[in-house]
Amino acid sequence: MTVFKRAAADGHCRVGAGPRNLLLGLAALLLSGCAPDHVLRSASEVHAGSAASSGSAAPAANAVRSGKAAGAEPAPDPGNSLRQAFAPYFLLGTALSAQQIAGQERGTLPLVQQHFNSLTAENVMKWQLLQPVEGQFDFSAADALLALAEQQGSVLIGHTLLWHEQTPAWVFQGPDGGPASRELLLARLTSHIQTVMGRYRGKIKGWDVVNEALNEDGSLRDTPWRRILGDDFYLTAFALAQQADPAAELYYNDFNLFKPAKRQGAVRLVRQLQAAGLKVAGIGMQGHYGLDFPALQEVEDSIRAFAATGAQVMITELDITVLPNPEQAQIGADVSQKLALQARLNPYTAGLPADVSQALTERYHALFRLFLQYEASISRVTLWGVHDGQSWRNGFPMQGRTDYALLFDRDLTPKPAVTALLQLAAESGGERRE
Ligand code: XIL
Repeated sequence: MTVFKRAAADGHCRVGAGPRNLLLGLAALLLSGCAPDHVLRSASEVHAGSAASSGSAAPAANAVRSGKAAGAEPAPDPGNSLRQAFAPYFLLGTALSAQQIAGQERGTLPLVQQHFNSLTAENVMKWQLLQPVEGQFDFSAADALLALAEQQGSVLIGHTLLWHEQTPAWVFQGPDGGPASRELLLARLTSHIQTVMGRYRGKIKGWDVVNEALNEDGSLRDTPWRRILGDDFYLTAFALAQQADPAAELYYNDFNLFKPAKRQGAVRLVRQLQAAGLKVAGIGMQGHYGLDFPALQEVEDSIRAFAATGAQVMITELDITVLPNPEQAQIGADVSQKLALQARLNPYTAGLPADVSQALTERYHALFRLFLQYEASISRVTLWGVHDGQSWRNGFPMQGRTDYALLFDRDLTPKPAVTALLQLAAESGGERRE
């Protein structure tokens, strides 16, 4: 078991790495009277627990059921529920908009119940929506989502506690309008995490604690969180989250994690958290992909690297754009990119040509075949939306386009990709777990 042997000597923290640094950060919390005291326990005690429970970190390659049924056997019944079809392997999730949660979209919720067993808020659990004004929390939509998940027998995933986007400006501002002091921002983060996670303690399976902390080269992104709290801000966030709901799974989530440099950055970050005695249950690979990127090999390499940390891998935010990427835009999901519409980059307003539709089906099939191959390491695959009409890809990175990134049409008709995935799961032959 080598997972915990090295204490992130190559880590991100400029001011030193590992438990000592975490303790320094927590000293400030102690002074402010809000220290997550249990993380002050001996790091080695926590290490022992994590290491023992994570077991062998070797990814279970070749776990795929070959599906080579003997000639005379009847074809397996593909069924009509993605959640059931994939239940032997991993949770299958979707993200719901505020409108969908409120039941304002005809037909969507029954479809969601039929096909998905894990729900994430596309927006309503982000800081901007939960605490738009300091100290004034609005849990109405988040509570409604929890009620829906309970009613549908689905798990609920929290997204997200610390992000540089969709966080109100006041969070980073001091009383004089300048940047908030470290103590003030720490107090706000503490209050937000304790209030939000405390409310849903025992009800939310896991939280994206930190979202998108990395640059494309794997270094730490320059954000107000990092500038004000310091390079160890993610250690603080995980420590606070672990205290607020010790039973919740805690995740690191980011886009473009298939890129080798960013993959290495995420591994460093996770190892550093582990070295500080913090539990990282999962690494979320946002799957904002296209028809021709990333290469499956790169996704596979990242799944293996992440599984080797002992964390589960989650494919979060899966969608596959069929549209050309504007030259000015990076691939990925940096939501700050907002380009004006150019008609030539919006070719399918009148419908998706058959060959592109076929390519989309094949792409979903190939990705899920890979996910099945690594099902022992993958705990969840979440689509970033239910149907194409809702997909954020219509507005990102260029506004006002018509994209076809999800599994259901704008009128909620299942696409051929749904049939292909049901078939793939059936051929994989696992026992139904639901
Ligand atoms: C997106 C939502 O889908 C949009 O509705 C919103 O306007 C912007 O955010 N990475 C994430 C998600 O972690 O929260 C983002 O969701 C997409 C990129």
